[in-house]
Amino acid sequence: MKRLVVFYSLSGNTEEAAKKIATALNADLLKLETVKSMPKAFVAQIIVGGGQVMMNHIPELKPIDIDLNLYDEIILGSPIWNSKGVPAVNAFLKDENSAAKVTSLFFLSGGGEVKKGLEAITKLLPNLKNTVSLLDKKHEDSKDNEAKIEEFIKKIG
Ligand SMILES: Cc1cc2nc3c(=O)[nH]c(=O)nc-3n(C[C@H](O)[C@H](O)[C@H](O)COP(=O)(O)O)c2cc1C
Repeated sequence: MKRLVVFYSLSGNTEEAAKKIATALNADLLKLETVKSMPKAFVAQIIVGGGQVMMNHIPELKPIDIDLNLYDEIILGSPIWNSKGVPAVNAFLKDENSAAKVTSLFFLSGGGEVKKGLEAITKLLPNLKNTVSLLDKKHEDSKDNEAKIEEFIKKIG
């Protein structure tokens, strides 16, 4: 079973979780990046990123330099933007073969409310079995991320 952890991360939280999950599962890592970069200032990120989510904008991704056909299973990581998954992840999921390989999903959010995001993304993932909601480092309950990641990894098996 060859596994790939695919993620997008703007400020490092999803990346940190992705690396932990990939190490524990002995999986490869793929970081999604958009051709057009996001602004550096948080307020501008909220305006641009939030607007993209509202408009269902699908950004162009930088070329993916690995062969996705080599992988049997994908574990997908996304921050929550405007209550939903990020546009870069939606761009990746345009490839239906890859979307069908996603069995497990981890979300990173500032507040932990992922219901809307989960509903939207579940429609794109026919084989989704495991999900976990993790919190941004700035949240006081983010100390529970470690235990949640461990549980998530156990479920993936
Ligand atoms: C554009 C934008 C929109 C966001 N919208 C939400 C939101 O609706 N709900 C929430 O809980 N967190 C929201 N956040 C916070 C992020 O989900 C959180 O900081 C996450 O840990 C970021 O992951 P990253 O460090 O991998 O980029 C938003 C952040 C950005 C940049």
